[in-house]
Amino acid sequence: MDGKRVLLIVSGGIAAYKCPDLVRRLRERGTLVRCLLTQGGAEFVTALALQAVSEEKVYQNLFSLTDENEMGHIRLSRESDLILIAPATANIIAKMAHGQADDLATTAILASDKPVFIAPAMNHYMYNHPATQANLALLIARGVTVIGPEEGNMACREFGMGRMSEPLEIVAKLDSFFATNLPLKGKRALVTSGPTFEAIDPVRFIGNRSSGKQGHAIARALAALGCQTTLISGPTQQTDPIGVCVVHVESAREMLSACETALPADIAVCAAAVSDWRAKSEVGSKIKKAAGAAPPNLKLTDNPDILATLSQLVIKRPELVVGFAAETDDVISNATSKRKRKECDWIIANDVSPHTGTFNGDANKVHLITSGGVENWPKMSKIKVGEKLAERITAHFGDAS
Ligand code: CTP
Repeated sequence: MDGKRVLLIVSGGIAAYKCPDLVRRLRERGTLVRCLLTQGGAEFVTALALQAVSEEKVYQNLFSLTDENEMGHIRLSRESDLILIAPATANIIAKMAHGQADDLATTAILASDKPVFIAPAMNHYMYNHPATQANLALLIARGVTVIGPEEGNMACREFGMGRMSEPLEIVAKLDSFFATNLPLKGKRALVTSGPTFEAIDPVRFIGNRSSGKQGHAIARALAALGCQTTLISGPTQQTDPIGVCVVHVESAREMLSACETALPADIAVCAAAVSDWRAKSEVGSKIKKAAGAAPPNLKLTDNPDILATLSQLVIKRPELVVGFAAETDDVISNATSKRKRKECDWIIANDVSPHTGTFNGDANKVHLITSGGVENWPKMSKIKVGEKLAERITAHFGDAS
């Protein structure tokens, strides 16, 4: 489950006390867990406990200005690979069955296009009630997977069906779900991301505004499909994606050398904004400003082109090399000639003109250019672009095999 993202919704049942353990077990398997605590859930387990074990912010309130600002209900569900509701009370099951959205949990569930798993937990009379059974049948018919419940002694001192499955049992179910959804298992990928910094002297450098959001999202999406992924990242503010081997570099030459070390690979995606030039001679000590002297005349030299180098390898050329084309004018025609010039298989053209907000923004509008033509993708989040590209790569290898 390395690199998978689970949104855990904790609703109000006594079994919520098992949730910190459930989170810990998921984290042990390399899963990123974001917790969403309902009002009822908060009566049984604290946000602080869940935050401590998940090492992520815990979301609670639909109308919290800060929660909606940092991550709204739509993003919260979309930026997960799976939604798990544990414990799932009779109440939340009923709300889900009838499409209610009166709090953050039910709104996130309704706004989601991701697989949903529920681990019911309730008194056995409530569980066996025809209303609950009918609601569960409705959810199952819509594709929701139900884990448990188990038979046993209950907190209300009765015996029967309604105990939430143990955390290890729940984790095993998610494990096998993810294991059957790893179409890139056995493939290796390298992804470049972020800017490069080219030193002028020990304190100054030539760099650019690339955030690394797109490259990191691609690496994460490939790893989530089971691809053994190495991310070679220039200096960025992005956190290392879970389940990805991350190599941190500064300059273009370091990036190229890390790419060569990561070979052989089946897939190379060059999303980094590599600096085209570097200072011809890097000065070992800080260049001082002499009074009245003219500014230094910076002599530049070309950096290696990593994408072209990987595309033109004779031995160890990755089967699929994907480049990016950051353009401000004639986006498609410039990107098409860039694909031919560099000899990569696919190129993703994006308009980086300042009005598009692409640089440093969360969204991207791209065109995928292959030997077969141009696909115009609608504007979507960089995370979604990463997922869509990983799906296209999966389809490519599916077609090729
Ligand atoms: N690239 C690279 N190494 C370089 C320059 C670019 O690997 N030294 C890669 C980028 O990662 C991207 C593609 O080449 O995948 C195109 O980058 P882009 O900046 O759009 O094009 P350039 O080659 O730099 O050409 P120009 O700036 O003239 O458009």
